[in-house]
Parts: sequence; structure tokens; C-alpha cells
Amino acid sequence: MKRILSGVQPSGRAHLGNYLGAIRQHIEMAEKFEAYLFIADLHALTTTKDPQLMREQTYDLAVSYLALGLNPEHTVFFKQSDLSEHAELCWIFDCIVKMPFLERAHAWKDAQAKGKKETSVGLFNYPILQAADILLYQPDLVPVGQDQKQHIEMTRDIAITFNNTFGETFKIPEPHIKKEVAVVPGTDGQKMSKSYGNTIEIFADEKELKKQVMGIVTSSVPLEDPKDPKSCNVFQLYKLLGTDKEVKDLEDKYLKGGFGYGDAKKTLLAKILDHFSQAQEKYQELYPKKDYVYGVIEEGNKKAKIMASKTLEEVKKKVGYK
Ligand code: AMP
Ligand code: TRP
Repeated sequence: MKRILSGVQPSGRAHLGNYLGAIRQHIEMAEKFEAYLFIADLHALTTTKDPQLMREQTYDLAVSYLALGLNPEHTVFFKQSDLSEHAELCWIFDCIVKMPFLERAHAWKDAQAKGKKETSVGLFNYPILQAADILLYQPDLVPVGQDQKQHIEMTRDIAITFNNTFGETFKIPEPHIKKEVAVVPGTDGQKMSKSYGNTIEIFADEKELKKQVMGIVTSSVPLEDPKDPKSCNVFQLYKLLGTDKEVKDLEDKYLKGGFGYGDAKKTLLAKILDHFSQAQEKYQELYPKKDYVYGVIEEGNKKAKIMASKTLEEVKKKVGYK
């Protein structure tokens, strides 16, 4: 059976981009493949420096995955910082990766371009830690959104370099990026991202959700006039959630005219509320069950440890530590 692996940072409440671009695939694929999914809290320290927030966001992400349907019987669901193997393998990779290779990373270049001269060493090293996360579990596929493509390519390069230097050790993984949801747009039309403040958070309460949806940027075409669905952010998001018939109906309304953006936003809001109603209920039910949620992670950690320590042992032999 093929194996998948992916991680999400606990850096804020899950949004539609995370869900459509990644989390939904993770949960669906876990039913068909052997699955390793984890909370990337080591990576989150590059941005979150508040310990209470780190705890809360980690817990929130765990509850979100479970509420959205992750089945712990079919998935090894674990927390990155609980497995020392990730940081250990990262160091070993640090010693084979050259500086100019990392300087090409988009995330690093963007941070530099924005004038953030004093970025942390951790941010610079971020792709190497991600390579360690992935390669420890020898997955075939890594399901992610488009923004992670370069990180998976770097992971492949690192695996090849290690294999060439120390002998065949790592399987070379493939990215798995679903085209229609590779880049989910945010409320301002740019990629939906916590760092742009343009997110629609799937577990926000109704009032907050309404504010986010009503805040979607639209053109100034007047209510009576026909509108172009393709260039409208509201329609683009609706398309990712509605059935074919629902999407066709909304498209007809746009083209006919007499249908304003306010109406379109209300249609989208109703769709989101309906789509996540069960998950929202499950979220409310699970949130207070701390023992259960932490228990799931404990179990996942134990299973992940078996695989991670096996790979690390092999690596230690290859480099001459054993
Ligand atoms: P992050 O919250 O940065 O850890 O991202 C978690 C996952 O969600 C990664 O696989 C990202 O590629 C994916 N993702 C985040 N934002 C978007 C977006 N706007 N469209 C598609 N996928 C996304
Ligand atoms: N960098 C990823 C993101 O921001 C999170 C991540 C960390 C990840 N390690 C990973 C994703 C390993 C896939 C595989 O979305």
C-alpha cells in the first residue's frame, strides 16, 4: 500500500485554503493509503513565540482535524515536537546541504525582499526540517497546496544528495497537488493565507464567519448588470464547495444580472455554514474532551516513533555513528 505524509503548522485557526488545499485531501487519502499526518509545531516556532498561543493553536488544530473526519484508526496522527528524530535528522541534513541551495527558497527570499533582514536561522533552515519530516517516514506522496511545491522539490534533492553520498537510504517522494484547489483565493483575491489576513476560518462562529465572507472584495458592477463569475472571488470560492448543479445555478444568476454581490455572498455564507455544520458540531463536542484528544496524539506519537526511529537508525549507520 502506498504511503502519504503531510503536516500543517499550528499557526492560527484552519481556513478554507488549508481545508480545500490540504486537510480535505489528507483525510480522504487516509482511507485509501497508509497515512502519517502531523502537527508541525517545530516549524510554527519560526513565527509563534507565545507559549500559551502555541499550546492553544496546537490543540485547536488537533480538534479541527478530528472534527473534519480524521479517523485515528486509519491515520497515524502525531505531533512533530514529541519526536526528537525530526530535529536529529535535520542536523544531519544541515551538514550535507549547501548554503546557496537554501538561499533559493521562496519563503526565505520573500522574507529578505520584505526587508526582514534579521530572520532567524530556523526560518532559513525551514526547508531542511521539512525534508527531515518527510524522509523519516519514506512516503510515496506528500499532499499539499501549491505553495509547498518548492519544499517538496528541495526534499527530493536532499534525499538524492544523501543517497549519493552515503548509499541508497531514502525513497524519493512525489508532491500531490490537486489542480483546482492548488491556490485557494482569499477575501482579497490573493492566495488565502494567515499572513495576509484574508482568511475565511472554517470554525469561526457564525458572526465572525459572516464578517469574513461579507468582506470579500468584489468589483463595482451595479446590481442590475450581468456579472463575470470567473473574475469574482465569491464565485471562485463557491465553485470549490458547491455541487455542479449549484455552481451552474449561481453562474446563471451572475450572467443574467439583477443579482448583486451581497446576494452572492449570502449564498456563499449559507453554503459554508451548511458544508461545515456537522464538523462544527463535532468540534464543539470534542473541544472539552482534552483527555481524548491528547490520547489520540499520544497513540499517534508511539506509532510514528516506530517508523521515525527505524529510519534514523539506518541513517546513523550510513554516516558512521553506529
Ligand atoms: P500551513 O497553514 O501554512 O501549514 O499550510 C497547511 C497546508 O495548507 C499546506 O499544504 C498548504 O500548501 C495548504 N494551503 C495553505 N493555504 C492554501 C491556499 N490558499 N490554497 C491552497 N492550499 C493552501
Ligand atoms: N511547511 C508546511 C506548510 O507551511 C508544513 C509542513 C512542515 C509540511 N513539514 C511538512 C508539509 C512536511 C508537508 C510535509 O504548509
